[in-house]
Amino acid sequence: MQSIFETIKRVAFEIDEAIKTEDLGYSDSENSSGEDQLKLDVRSDLIIEKAFATTPVVKNLVSEEKEGVLELNPEGRYTICYDPLDGSSLVDVNLSVGSIFGIYEGALQGENLVASAYVVYGPRIELVIATRKGRPQLYRAVQGEFRHIGEITMGEKGKLNAPGGTQQNWCDYHKSFIDDLFAEGYRLRYSGGMVPDLHQIMLKGGGLFSYPGTSDKPHGKLRQLFEVIPFALMYERSGGEAIDNKGRRLLELVPTHPHDTSPCFFGSKYEIAKLKTAYGIDA
Ligand code: AHG
Ligand code: MN
Ligand code: MN
Repeated sequence: MQSIFETIKRVAFEIDEAIKTEDLGYSDSENSSGEDQLKLDVRSDLIIEKAFATTPVVKNLVSEEKEGVLELNPEGRYTICYDPLDGSSLVDVNLSVGSIFGIYEGALQGENLVASAYVVYGPRIELVIATRKGRPQLYRAVQGEFRHIGEITMGEKGKLNAPGGTQQNWCDYHKSFIDDLFAEGYRLRYSGGMVPDLHQIMLKGGGLFSYPGTSDKPHGKLRQLFEVIPFALMYERSGGEAIDNKGRRLLELVPTHPHDTSPCFFGSKYEIAKLKTAYGIDA
């Protein structure tokens, strides 16, 4: 798997360069989720596809920006499911964005995720890698190389609240739950990019990021294979929890289609316990 992590490090610098130098406009196509693709979405997708095409352990690719499964090497062992540029609509306002990678061995479902990684393109480039053992590891780019910074551990309870989705379309018990967190002193932190938002909560010791099912999007917005499941591993490995609206671990999701979404909640233990009470989920 080391060769996959090395490839991710390489593409991180290429995508960062593209973000900094290339056209910020729309392409003339949309992706499988019906979203207009930016030229940068397409470009980042191609950078990643090209890089993994020469990484022999990679069997298949599944991308937010591609319809089906792209076969690369029948002898390969892993399928990489990735969001090449998460939060891409924030590039034109110069906010942080990211790339997310889920590395699966076998059928594409949560329990077969063997590792995940994400890159944050912000004032600096940062990379976090999680495997099934130990804490997620944080790296920061310094002079063209990633330096290991340390491991990430969240507290039992945090201070930040990142509530996703259109509030008008939240159900009543979700709205009261979010209001209760603010009434307890939680502070709002929501940029509209799940990579920087989830990264901030993990690095600042904890809190809650939620993207619930809403009246307009009953299954939420975030995609299981390349957004939800990879971050579920990050949160569990750093001492937090990641569940859906029924209390099921997101790491046990079994998507029926590569672009399936799921309501999702990522947090430290205290906030997830409170969410379970608010949603009537047996602890
Ligand atoms: P993408 O840019 O890959 O389509 O993903 C954007 C996602 C995610 O990063 C973010 O948390 C969420 O969309 C924001 O959605 P809302 O604008 O509905 O809050
Ligand atoms: Mn995304
Ligand atoms: Mn994206």
